[in-house]
Amino acid sequence: MTVESQITLEPAHPEEARALLEIHGAAVHQTASSAYPQAILEQWSRRPITQARVERIRQRWIENPNHRMVVAKHKGQCVGFGFIDKGGELQGVYVHPDYGRRGIGASLLARLEQEAIVLGLSALTADASLNAEAFYSKQGFEVIEHGVHRLASGQEMACVKMRKSLSGL
Ligand SMILES: CC(C)(COP(=O)(O)OP(=O)(O)OC[C@H]1O[C@@H](n2cnc3c(N)ncnc32)[C@H](O)[C@@H]1OP(=O)(O)O)[C@@H](O)C(=O)NCCC(=O)NCCS
Repeated sequence: MTVESQITLEPAHPEEARALLEIHGAAVHQTASSAYPQAILEQWSRRPITQARVERIRQRWIENPNHRMVVAKHKGQCVGFGFIDKGGELQGVYVHPDYGRRGIGASLLARLEQEAIVLGLSALTADASLNAEAFYSKQGFEVIEHGVHRLASGQEMACVKMRKSLSGL
């Protein structure tokens, strides 16, 4: 049986906060590493993962009532996640590098688009990381402009502002 056929998608649970941060860290520091300077990568995903940060992420990402977050699992283990907010901003999709290029990111995005439609949204926008532009383009996002994304630390990083209309889905 292939890994792809064993992937399940589920809403995120609070107890998964550390696992999601570990995926985030691996995706940023490995998959995205050639697209940004080290100083930006360190701000985008800080190391080490402290318990205080796990708690913050649990509250800000998973338990945030303005978010819809979906987790991809393989044999019960979290391998990727993505989330949107109720304003129609795609906050990000992250897949562990060990599970990359198996369609998991695309599946997460498709589920998030369905969540967005249920919320009554007509489009999703994203500050796509430079390394992820090709991924989002493949899923039907269009480039609006090149710009900057402000991280929680205040650090700015180059990004591509993208948009996908949900009408017709
Ligand atoms: C972006 C990301 C979520 C994609 O996840 P993934 O599961 O590897 O992507 P998929 O396998 O679903 O890719 C689907 C298609 O998108 C395109 N694609 C994905 N990654 C690509 C890349 N690095 N370069 C070019 N095309 C890419 C391909 O067409 C791919 O299909 P193919 O593998 O049959 O060629 C993952 O690479 C990641 O976590 N990146 C680091 C974190 C990040 O930058 N996230 C975005 C924040 S806004």
